[in-house]
Amino acid sequence: MPGDTFYITTPIYYLNGSPHIGHAYTTIAADVAARYQRLKGRDVRFLTGTDEHGQKVLEAAEARGLDPKTHTDRLVEDWKAVMNRLKIDYDRWIRTTDEDHEAVVQRVLQKLWDAGEIYKADYEGWYLVKDEVFVTDKERDERIQSGELTEDHFRRITESNYFFRMSKYQQALIDHIEAHPDFVVPEGRRNEVLGFLKGELGDLCISRPKARMSWGIELPFDHEFVCYVWFDALLNYLTGTGFAADGDPAYRRWWPADYHLIGKDILTTHAVYWTTMLLALGEPLPLHLFAHGWWVSQDGAKMSKSAGNVIDVGRLCDAFGVDAVRYFFLREIKFGADGGFSYEGFLTRYNADLANDLGNLAHRGLTMTEKWLGGTVPARDAPDPGLLAIAEEGAATFDRCLGALDFQGALEAVFTLVRAGNKYVDTRQPWALNKKGETAALRQVMRDVLEICAFAATLLHPVMPDRAEDLLGRLGLSADGVATAIPELVAGRRILALLPEGAALASGDPLFPRFKELPAPVAELFAGPEGGEAAEGADSEVPLPDLEWIEYPDFAKLLLKSGRVLSAEAHPNADKLLVLKVDVGEARPRTICAGIRSAFDPADLVGRNVVVVANLKPRKMRGIPSEGMLLAASHGDDGVVDLVGASAEPGDRVS
Ligand code: MSP
Repeated sequence: MPGDTFYITTPIYYLNGSPHIGHAYTTIAADVAARYQRLKGRDVRFLTGTDEHGQKVLEAAEARGLDPKTHTDRLVEDWKAVMNRLKIDYDRWIRTTDEDHEAVVQRVLQKLWDAGEIYKADYEGWYLVKDEVFVTDKERDERIQSGELTEDHFRRITESNYFFRMSKYQQALIDHIEAHPDFVVPEGRRNEVLGFLKGELGDLCISRPKARMSWGIELPFDHEFVCYVWFDALLNYLTGTGFAADGDPAYRRWWPADYHLIGKDILTTHAVYWTTMLLALGEPLPLHLFAHGWWVSQDGAKMSKSAGNVIDVGRLCDAFGVDAVRYFFLREIKFGADGGFSYEGFLTRYNADLANDLGNLAHRGLTMTEKWLGGTVPARDAPDPGLLAIAEEGAATFDRCLGALDFQGALEAVFTLVRAGNKYVDTRQPWALNKKGETAALRQVMRDVLEICAFAATLLHPVMPDRAEDLLGRLGLSADGVATAIPELVAGRRILALLPEGAALASGDPLFPRFKELPAPVAELFAGPEGGEAAEGADSEVPLPDLEWIEYPDFAKLLLKSGRVLSAEAHPNADKLLVLKVDVGEARPRTICAGIRSAFDPADLVGRNVVVVANLKPRKMRGIPSEGMLLAASHGDDGVVDLVGASAEPGDRVS
């Protein structure tokens, strides 16, 4: 029955590296929304997973010397481990290499092909490998001029390809967005999409010739081609519903999705590619596309490991606990906006909200009740009316905000009550009531405080499941009760009336210990690359030369292989070049032209081990195609003095 179900998705992540804050952020947000809807009693499907085809993943696999499937099989386990640590309670982890997904992609392609929605044509254009997209001349120029990208990021590609008639749906999409103001949210993103749609929408190239890139799902109607990675990836949202190759309609239980959560950088692919694909398929569009902002360093500088301003989620979890990390990212900025991150900012927020506000209130409630009222939930007639009003408003606001993915607003509603609770203790002074023997008033105050803690722990459960359960346990409540309590609170019932009178309380250690300074796992990040010791060493005082440094991923782009020279002869048209045949462990030897004629007699080279740059794009050198480069040593102006070689078999990776 529609309305009873809730289907939420994250983007599926490229398996070309390790998870970082961007991936953690979207997934935590989706997890909190999913947990909350489950606790409200809805039937929830929460889908996340990995995008495993395409050039990017293929290149990452090649850089590790692995075939792409082995590469993704290994890497996906690391990703799942990180998401498990972050307590992501997904219903399915989809991989685009899953069999059912491949079948869905082929079914959709065939259906669109049969319906004439896909056609074949020649295409020439700029390809941006990093994002796996073709870009226009104008976009390429702009991005180079802005300094964001260099010419090396783009490849000029001419080929025959298959195209999806995306342009046909331009007006229908505009109409849909205009008629559904909360289809693309927040509003600024909606305007961005409408602005984009003011220009003429072209058709979408949805194939890659296998001759260029074979790591993908084969087109069912042309075996020479694989499917474009985005067309393949977007369909994961349908596969995740049980949409099957055999046309079983059971997927309609979940489709259309309630929410697709995405980062603002992948808005066009979702709001335009995905939606027009669905229009062509005759499927309803998702209810909401929520594009969140990006986390950047506080000073606005780009985050990079070398600048020491990268958000290290693992260390934050080590230092402050996973629950605090989940809380911080959803509380610190409004979902949808960009966020400036600093470790000091994290510490401040943690101490203020978790240690001082919530932790302190729980500590006060539990220890004072233990000390003066025997450590059980005290009796009282009714909650303090002022607190009750804040709590009633809080429960309603929490529900409204979480339903709209305004996590910040929802959390703020709970913490408004928590702060009011601390103020209440300060003004009612239970210690003075105890001294004066005003037991009834003391019971009232302590019960109210404990009820606020129960209220907060219940509503915060989807955000901080472990800390919430810990607090509920100390209050004599079980975690199972949350699923009953949340619908009640949302309906305005049992507000500040969750605790069973007489239940035993347990104070225990602080829920959120306060930190005066950044705890070790995080502080170490600022201790310099080798930690304190190396910084004191004499060597580090002699500066390294001023080089144009590269990052490891730049180096990892090189595919270096060990090779053996099979033959060598003079180049017919160039007196500095030799033409070599080199075995690099492939089906045939490579032909390599090398400028080493002045240093070697060709006959001496035969049988020699060399190191070959194997992924250097082949090019003709004076009429002969050269399919790689040899690594050589040169001394000053003397030119090449020796070749680099490894005692290894042809084809072995050198790195
Ligand atoms: N594979 C595609 C998505 C296909 S969905 C059918 C992809 N993958 S990704 O791994 O590159 O990025 C996934 C998400 O991470 C994007 O939503 C992106 O916005 C998000 N982030 C990457 N860095 C980020 C920050 N620094 N901050 C917040 N999110 C950012 O794109």
